[in-house]
Amino acid sequence: MSGEGVTIDEPKGVGVAIGKGSELPSYPRALEFDDALELNGGMFHPQGPTFFELARQALSSTERGYDLLAPKFDYTPFRTPSWVLEQTAPHVGPPNSVGSALDVCCGTGAAMQMLRPLCRDRVTGIDMSQGMLEVGREKTAGAPGQAKLEFTRGDVLDMPFEEEFDVAVCFGACGHILPRDEARFIEQVRNALRPGGRFIFATSYLPRKLSATYWLARGFNAAMHVRNLLIRPPFIMYYLTFLLPGARRMLEEHDFSVEVKEDAFAPTAPQLKLVVATRN
Ligand SMILES: C[S@@+](CC[C@H](N)C(=O)[O-])C[C@H]1O[C@@H](n2cnc3c(N)ncnc32)[C@H](O)[C@@H]1O
Repeated sequence: MSGEGVTIDEPKGVGVAIGKGSELPSYPRALEFDDALELNGGMFHPQGPTFFELARQALSSTERGYDLLAPKFDYTPFRTPSWVLEQTAPHVGPPNSVGSALDVCCGTGAAMQMLRPLCRDRVTGIDMSQGMLEVGREKTAGAPGQAKLEFTRGDVLDMPFEEEFDVAVCFGACGHILPRDEARFIEQVRNALRPGGRFIFATSYLPRKLSATYWLARGFNAAMHVRNLLIRPPFIMYYLTFLLPGARRMLEEHDFSVEVKEDAFAPTAPQLKLVVATRN
């Protein structure tokens, strides 16, 4: 197990391949569009959502959609898998080295489990979905570590935090932020961090235009644009957003010093990059 002794709880029996560094199986390359699409076609874990349930979720608002999905979310490839978190942990710091941390769009608290043993004081998750927060509260209750766990319901574009955290993370959720809201999102994260605090998240460069990943993502986005034109309220979820180098540029414009860990997830997912942005 990597990550300075951090052990991440993973639902037993999930997935199609063996998770790296964990006895429990997990999805091989989550955060990748191809996998999500393939698995959405009815190949989820038996305890995961059916095709009908996923369709119902996609026809609801973002918040309601996640409320509906919450009980089964951990059996989908949308939950950030343990190997991503385990490989991120060493970049956050050794056990007890961080005062307090914020998980932005925490969902069912996958990253909160990773953060708890690294923190001394508090780990706070914020998410708009009450359903996801309730499942998160249950799932993280026994997570190793002493830091206080807190769950806040709210929109990450309007967070109630003022220079309170040493670290903020965000996994699997940047696609829920519209490009026009990205600057505001960064401002909100910046406000939540103390000076010197770090914003840590995973993203990638734009896939090659000749790749299947690129065109599948474009196709998915086109379908979402049509869905959101025809149906209200919208479900905000687009691929190929908050990518490098644009995300780096925007963070630097908001007075962050940015380091891109190019090999943080190699060899498992070399296309995935870990960004560590320090608030100046
Ligand atoms: C794909 S899940 C990821 C959850 C978790 N970070 C993980 O990696 O397993 C995305 C989460 O973002 C939340 N979300 C989406 N837009 C949001 C917003 N504007 N404010 C707060 N939460 C939001 C959803 O409710 C959902 O729980």
